[in-house]
Amino acid sequence: MMTSAAANIGVVGLAVMGSNLARNLASREGNRVAVHNRTYARTENLLREHPEAGFIAAESIDDFAASLARPRTAIIMVQAGAGTDAVIDQLAERFEPGDIIVDGGNANFQDTIAREKRIAPTGIHFVGVGISGGEEGALRGPSIMPGGSEESYRTLGPILASIAAVASGEPCVTHVGTNGAGHFVKMIHNGIEYADMQLIGEAYDLLRTVGNMRPESVADVFAEWNEGPLESYLVEITADILRHVDPATGQPFVDVVLDQAGSKGTGVWTVQNALDLGVPVGGIAEAVFARAVSGKAEQRAAVRRLVASRPEVQKPAATFVDDVAAALYASKIIAYAQGFDAITAGARKYDWDVHKDQIAKIWRGGCIIRARFLDRITEAYTENPGITTLLEAPYFARAVADGEAAWRRVVATAALSGVPVPGFSSALSYYDSLAAERLPAALVQGQRDFFGAHTYRRVDRDGTFHTLWGGDRTEVES
Ligand code: 6PG
Repeated sequence: MMTSAAANIGVVGLAVMGSNLARNLASREGNRVAVHNRTYARTENLLREHPEAGFIAAESIDDFAASLARPRTAIIMVQAGAGTDAVIDQLAERFEPGDIIVDGGNANFQDTIAREKRIAPTGIHFVGVGISGGEEGALRGPSIMPGGSEESYRTLGPILASIAAVASGEPCVTHVGTNGAGHFVKMIHNGIEYADMQLIGEAYDLLRTVGNMRPESVADVFAEWNEGPLESYLVEITADILRHVDPATGQPFVDVVLDQAGSKGTGVWTVQNALDLGVPVGGIAEAVFARAVSGKAEQRAAVRRLVASRPEVQKPAATFVDDVAAALYASKIIAYAQGFDAITAGARKYDWDVHKDQIAKIWRGGCIIRARFLDRITEAYTENPGITTLLEAPYFARAVADGEAAWRRVVATAALSGVPVPGFSSALSYYDSLAAERLPAALVQGQRDFFGAHTYRRVDRDGTFHTLWGGDRTEVES
């Protein structure tokens, strides 16, 4: 059946994320949504379950293309990878110059850059869009991070704004930058998400182990924290999860779940790219590694068997719960500082005009890392877009300094008690590295020069030097 060109937007790929996004689009005034899925049965299901959406269903990709008004705009919501390329090619064959193909999946931004390059000669716009908020966000309002050309954003912007989450009256969407910028920033969002989750996990572990608290009491603590500066979606759902009782056993849910965390790759990409960009993102890396360690069941069992006794758990300080809150907040600030550093470096390398204040703004609603303190990040970058690190902004400098003593107490208590806190401790070491008067990097330079004549610079003179270590140890300028 040929359909008339009546839809202003189309969605290809109707698994949960795709259907929810299509329903969200359909629910906003001014949108008429065409839908297409490789297997038509899924499209029929969606139509049956949601007649209110008034979808234009297209069984074939030809019908789908024909149902879109010009400039044709289609959002691909298929699992990132080869499937995406297949759909892009199908659409590109049917679309015309000026039409817009959007990839709304969790694509690797390098793939997005390559795809845009490949499609550009056809005159069709290819736009990679990061979408955060999971299934619920897709349906009710996600945070949206579009890349692609300025021109495509003129058509796409209002459509995306119509479905985005709203924070303080503003839609959580901004044109991040050209080509892969949107997927890059979504990748960093996920890296921060990993760090945030790990830090919350460490706080929970400390409260249970050192604080000797039951999951429901830890839930109360998280619920209380959610009323203050730590207020965030992840803290909120943590309280919920900790209160949940497993119906099968009557045990706390958290105690019946296998303690091995999986991942789909975006955290790994963040760290890989940060390494390439030379940006220290230790907090994010530790979070990725912590999931990897959790999955090393055999190694964990082997070491558990060998270790004769575990350290005695320290008696918690009277201020322990507040101390953990302070450690969590300070470590979280570090994770965000590192994530924003990666954005700065990525924008420089790939020539994107990314406005970090706007990124913090669109993360205030809809996405997984939405949090009260993102307002502070927006303020920091609005006041001074040139700050070298978030830690330089007066609010964050003060917040870290205020929590510093507690943070150190918590890391020390964890180390003495044998509670692993890779996130808290790496964040603290990162802070101490930035704050230190002198770093042992001087010695490392000496070592490099000793075994490899890699040269060094001096504190008291310009130039590059080498010491004749194998000879009379005089210093030569090189
Ligand atoms: C979001 C989430 C979402 C998802 C990721 C991370 O922003 O909506 O980040 O993209 O949860 O796939 O999942 P993993 O933990 O499996 O890597």
